[in-house]
Amino acid sequence: MAAQTYSIEIEQSSEPRLRGLDVNNVPFGKLFSDHMLVATVERGTWSAKIVPYGKLEMSPSISALHYGQSVFEGMKAYKSPQGEPLLFRPHANFHRINRSAERLCMPPIPEDIFMEGLQQLIRLDADWIPTRPGSALYIRPVYFATDESIGLRPSERYTLAIMTCPVGAYYAEPVKLTIAPQYVRAFPGGTGAAKAAGNYAGSLLADREAKHRGYDNVLWLDGIHHKYIEECGTMNVFFAIDGVVVTPALQGTILPGITRDSVLTLLRDWGIPVEERAIALDELLEAADAGTLQEAFGAGTAATIAHIDTIHTGDRELQLPPIGDRKYANLLLKKLADIKTAKTDDPYGWVVRV
Ligand code: COI
Repeated sequence: MAAQTYSIEIEQSSEPRLRGLDVNNVPFGKLFSDHMLVATVERGTWSAKIVPYGKLEMSPSISALHYGQSVFEGMKAYKSPQGEPLLFRPHANFHRINRSAERLCMPPIPEDIFMEGLQQLIRLDADWIPTRPGSALYIRPVYFATDESIGLRPSERYTLAIMTCPVGAYYAEPVKLTIAPQYVRAFPGGTGAAKAAGNYAGSLLADREAKHRGYDNVLWLDGIHHKYIEECGTMNVFFAIDGVVVTPALQGTILPGITRDSVLTLLRDWGIPVEERAIALDELLEAADAGTLQEAFGAGTAATIAHIDTIHTGDRELQLPPIGDRKYANLLLKKLADIKTAKTDDPYGWVVRV
């Protein structure tokens, strides 16, 4: 059966807000561009439009609010040196939101609506893309259940909204992490690999406690043994140990990060040994004692490549080597930024011109 094509009507904003704003200097995720895509589906019938960014009218009974049937994505748009808008790996985000949706019993989003809507939205608000190094137009699709019913069952109606906001670095400084022994983020068979809203809500208390103790985020450990490193909630994590870059394997409890995948691809292409496997916290402590723990960094869309400065492991505080000595993270940060802004070749076909 031929894929259905959808026409996406555009209602332009009559009050553009860009004039006088410095998109290179805004706090993360608080200022939204002029337009948004809003698509709805009811029992298989989709419709989509682009409208001025603003409030959505909905009832307090919608099931997403009660039972968390809601998934989201994070991606970014950049500008080439010639000023063309560029998207980084949008198809990977499209496929991931539909995998997340499937896990939460939600219908798949048609590719046309997601990709064509995204292209039109970015074209319309291209002037909102900041160009300062390290900045981008962050794109946030959110897809949620809208049945006005508090019976627990999959909804029959859903809304997809895609909004964008100019952003700078998510972490202004190298990150300090701590473990949270009394909490878990995910469990085998759970929703840890989905970008489900509830995963993030469930991490907030542990994160707040970490912040009270002077750390930026929690370094999550596995839910069964509480021994193996998983991810950070805002990003996947990597460690360079004795010339090998290791990262936790994807086994259903961590987010299959698109930046994670880009990092692995680049490292393998550069001939740097990489391992996707279980990493015990004890292994990090032993490597630190042996002097072989060279680097630790996070990888995520918002975080990009974020140096990890400190890891508090319960009774010890690991201090990682100085940022200037971090060969892998610094190389990756530069190479990814150059690919995303078309300053270098893109042999992987990651960049999509809008
Ligand atoms: C992203 O990196 O895009 C995310 O969704 C993480 C979020 C905590 C900002």
